[in-house]
Amino acid sequence: MAVTRTFSIIKPDATRRNLTGKVTAMLEEAGLRVVASRRIRMTKEQAEGFYAVHKERPFFNDLVAFMTSGPVVVQVLEGEDAVALNRRVMGATNPENAEPGTIRRELAESIEANSVHGSDSAENAAIEIAFFFKPEDIVG
Ligand code: CMP
Repeated sequence: MAVTRTFSIIKPDATRRNLTGKVTAMLEEAGLRVVASRRIRMTKEQAEGFYAVHKERPFFNDLVAFMTSGPVVVQVLEGEDAVALNRRVMGATNPENAEPGTIRRELAESIEANSVHGSDSAENAAIEIAFFFKPEDIVG
């Protein structure tokens, strides 16, 4: 399996509880390497653009409000089959359905405040990485 990249966000519920290091340690222990990282406060426009695929969903406005409610840490992760590996470490979107030991099962507060985002495909990983990072900001 090839070394590839995925995109991750440590969400406001996790930064608020000072869990940036704990989340990053869980990613690293799973075999992912942080090759770019930036702490930002997302604007409404950024959050709406990033989650545009969900704009018809009933939770869209709440999601945008939540993602702009505090700092987030946007990251590029590298590893063997990084998209799938990161999704395994995160666990299911709803923490109630996530496996024990996953980030969402251990740390998330709810389906909305679920501590982390991760790309769902290699195609979306490339789009999401380019949304927040220039190529020269990624150092593998
Ligand atoms: P994320 O991987 O960031 O992608 C979209 C987010 O919408 C998702 O994680 C959840 O945090 C959030 N969300 C809120 N409500 C729902 C819901 N009912 N179903 C799916 N995602 C939801």
